Amino acid sequence: MPRLNLLEETRFEKLPVTIYDNAADASIAVARRIAKLIKSKQRNNEKTVLGLATGVTPIKVYAELVRMHKEDSLSFKDVITFNLDEYYPMRPTSAQSYVTFMKDNLFNHIDIDLNNVHIPDGTLAKDEVADFCLEYERKITALGGLDMQILGIGRTGHIGFNEPGSAPNSGTRLVTLDDLTRSDASRDFGGKENVPTKAITMGIGTIFKAREIILMAWSKKKASILKKAVEGEISADVPATYLQLSDHVEFIVDKDAASELTRLDTPWLVKDCIWDEQIIKKAVTWLALTLNKPILKLTEEDYNNHGMAQLATEKGPVYNININIFNKLQHTITGWPGGKPNADDSQRPERAEPAKKRTVIFSPHPDDDVISMGGTFIRLADQGHEVHVAYQTSGNTAVWDDDALRYVEFSIDFNKYQKIDTTQLEDLYMRMRSFLKEKQPNQTDSEEILTVKGQIRKGEAIAGARYAGLPDERIHFMNLPFYDRFKSQKSVSYEDDIKQTMDLLNMIKPHQIFAAGDFADPHGTHKVCFDIIINALKRLRETEEWIKDCWLWLYRGAWHEFPIHEIEMAVPLSPEEVTRKRLAIFKHQSQKDMPVFPGEDSREFWVRAEDRTKETAFCYNQLGLAEYEAIEAFVRWDY
Ligand code: F6R
Repeated sequence: MPRLNLLEETRFEKLPVTIYDNAADASIAVARRIAKLIKSKQRNNEKTVLGLATGVTPIKVYAELVRMHKEDSLSFKDVITFNLDEYYPMRPTSAQSYVTFMKDNLFNHIDIDLNNVHIPDGTLAKDEVADFCLEYERKITALGGLDMQILGIGRTGHIGFNEPGSAPNSGTRLVTLDDLTRSDASRDFGGKENVPTKAITMGIGTIFKAREIILMAWSKKKASILKKAVEGEISADVPATYLQLSDHVEFIVDKDAASELTRLDTPWLVKDCIWDEQIIKKAVTWLALTLNKPILKLTEEDYNNHGMAQLATEKGPVYNININIFNKLQHTITGWPGGKPNADDSQRPERAEPAKKRTVIFSPHPDDDVISMGGTFIRLADQGHEVHVAYQTSGNTAVWDDDALRYVEFSIDFNKYQKIDTTQLEDLYMRMRSFLKEKQPNQTDSEEILTVKGQIRKGEAIAGARYAGLPDERIHFMNLPFYDRFKSQKSVSYEDDIKQTMDLLNMIKPHQIFAAGDFADPHGTHKVCFDIIINALKRLRETEEWIKDCWLWLYRGAWHEFPIHEIEMAVPLSPEEVTRKRLAIFKHQSQKDMPVFPGEDSREFWVRAEDRTKETAFCYNQLGLAEYEAIEAFVRWDY
């Protein structure tokens, strides 16, 4: 088994982990494994018994299986499935049920006999559940057990809905969901209060009996729990760690989910490294922060005791390495995010020329610009650059219903006051009211309500950008069409969005672009917005001269900051600038106090923004650089 063969570089990993470049490739590999199993069983006239999971993770696996069914004649006639879990209580016809999920993503598109499909029943009376669970187990056993179980992992470390505290020998049963699991599900249910508190789940013991177990994890969101599951001690606190005891488990993950594993995060601890600039910077800043010592005070002994002896020998003496990295960090700091006119720019992040730049700040939602880079935004405007801001989406899902009503009430009153006929407006208002009265959790708003909500956010964005110093003609609302399509389907084409972005860029011909490089935002909008910009730039590069002189800088949104070794431009803010930035964020009133989508961070956006920039400043200072009030961070992206 691979477990006995662990390479040195996986020294801390307690079970086999295969890392793919991206989730799409990994999902295809898993689908192929499933198909291979089904076909080999079919050759022996045997049935395949599969344990299936729901959630975001297996969606691409199911899509590939459907493709194989349609294009490669993979048949599911001899396949029997058992799903891991179902919410309780839950009607199978409800949009959020795992029955609906499985039908939508797999069963409706393949030739499986629905009598061979088993999903825990969310409609049972409480006193029927225990018998049902025993019967579920009995059925699996009677069929000879699960040939293969596929799993996702929850951020609590749950597999199935075996939340922290679950026993390793647990069977199928009714469980109470962890608070974090309910928060993660809240978007599907239109608010956490609508997420059931319970579920029926296969137990860890049930999963364990499968002849093959594959756990999948994609994206940075899973990185920290994956590290615990793979490298941590076995503990009921992270139920997935029980899988370390299995001889037939494999974790299949993408690079982002694997990014906190020792072999990727601090590889010098487990193997020889090729010490290029980037990894030296990462290792030295890591060493200084780990030892809580300024870079210039790190000694050879510190290097040797922390897996960096090879670096010291190859590139030492260590003091030279320290100075080199210290200087590199020093050169990232600039108060001139648009370049310093008439200055030697050989060691500066931005070019001095042209002294007055045309800059486009792309903001996925109407407030990301000021939240994420408000200080730099203000500085660029103050320093006389021609700054444009382009709001990519309307953000119209994130406004409270009663706020929408309030604004229409205002319009009616104001029009009445002006003696303007309000009949139509009042009709609209009544329609809005009756729609909202009947509105189901998570139901998409009517077109007119979405328009009102979009307008509210538009007004706030204008106020924020004006406050940062922009004239109105440089404030652009793109209303990218993908955003509305995104609400009903997750995979959509971005062709018209790319064209629109190309047109805007061609009109402005910027020297500098700032864009959100914040791929862990909870709804995926930032990543799509980023992809659209990159596509637009790549296409423009084929025909346009101006683009050769256009640099792309990435900022991160309200959710994460770049790690210190990746930062290429660090813009310090004075205490006054921090206050100005705060006031610009305050213009986004609909997002203040209690935003519709706060994520799991209970702090308000302006507090998060301030804390994050203060942490970056603190980190620079800890490394031995000057002490600033706050720092906004950027990396440059080659496209
Ligand atoms: C689903 C299930 C859960 C999920 C886990 C990850 O049937 O039992 O354990 O696999 O919560 O969910 P996603 O894939 O949505 O991140």
